[in-house]
Amino acid sequence: MTRVHKPISLTRYLIEEQREKGVIKPDLRLLIEVVARACKTIATQINKGDLGGVLGNVGSINVQGEVQKKLDVLSNEILLEANEWGGHLAAIASEEMDDPYPIPHRYPKGEYLLVFDPLDGSSNIDVNVSVGTIFSVLKAPEGVTEPKPEDFLQPGTKQVAAGYTVYGPSTVLVLTVGDGTHMFTLDREQGSFVLTEMNVRIPEDTAEFAINMSNMRHWEVPVKRYIDELLAGKTGPRGKDFNMRWVASMVADVHRILTRGGVFMYPVDAKCRDKGGRLRLMYEANPMAFIVEQAGGGATDGHIRILERQPLALHERVPVFLGSKNEVALVTSYHRD
Ligand code: F6P
Repeated sequence: MTRVHKPISLTRYLIEEQREKGVIKPDLRLLIEVVARACKTIATQINKGDLGGVLGNVGSINVQGEVQKKLDVLSNEILLEANEWGGHLAAIASEEMDDPYPIPHRYPKGEYLLVFDPLDGSSNIDVNVSVGTIFSVLKAPEGVTEPKPEDFLQPGTKQVAAGYTVYGPSTVLVLTVGDGTHMFTLDREQGSFVLTEMNVRIPEDTAEFAINMSNMRHWEVPVKRYIDELLAGKTGPRGKDFNMRWVASMVADVHRILTRGGVFMYPVDAKCRDKGGRLRLMYEANPMAFIVEQAGGGATDGHIRILERQPLALHERVPVFLGSKNEVALVTSYHRD
């Protein structure tokens, strides 16, 4: 990981990626800037907390069967409003909405599809713990101007950009356009995201894991075996002690792993088997897998690379194992056994 000393704004980073490396097109740059701007607005709302009247539930249930928080709804609206008029998108899909959101006819349309989880880890909102926004960008299939749900069903390898913003003690936007993973910290006085870590690298080995241990009795054999071995510590087959962390906010857990390594797991278990897992492929697993792989880590569903899974439904759920390469490879190999 390279710590950056010269202040480079997100805008400048994107322009240079476009001009010097040709990695991104002008419309994609605009799209990322608009998402970043929406994330600044969301950060401001989160920051107000109880003073802004943004805590608590709205009383409705989303397509995932979860109780919607006021901030879930607000963040969704902020992202929709910011993105619908710029002319860079063909359609938007959100974890909070049953169907894709078409770009209103009064605005021009572009070639990209934007997919997001407006506020991930929302059970943490009311207790003042880190939450985040996750996003992924795909291209609309050639010639499609009115995208339908099936037009979004592209494997994660097709993503042209992915990122998340973690709203923690500081607000940090993490981005990949397929040219490494980079971190931008929000400078509140300047009102802009500034490049602070370039080419993040996740250590291949780790002594830290993240999993919801309360689900242990529901796990399948390979996961139980892997965690038992970690818990056995120095005197067990792994010959070293492991530490555990679980924030229950995927963005915060993944951010820790990008910063100092670790392995994050949300396996399929008896509780969520009928749904296919807990986390969403399009809104959570795919963007995180892209970010983690670009930082040298691994990301599988226990069997194959997450990025190679062919999505079958917009709100599909999947098992997730991601982070330090060697640990992800080991727990994946146990599934094969
Ligand atoms: O989207 C789901 C999510 O909130 C993730 O951010 C997080 O990793 C997970 O659920 C927490 O799950 P649990 O409630 O089982 O701890």
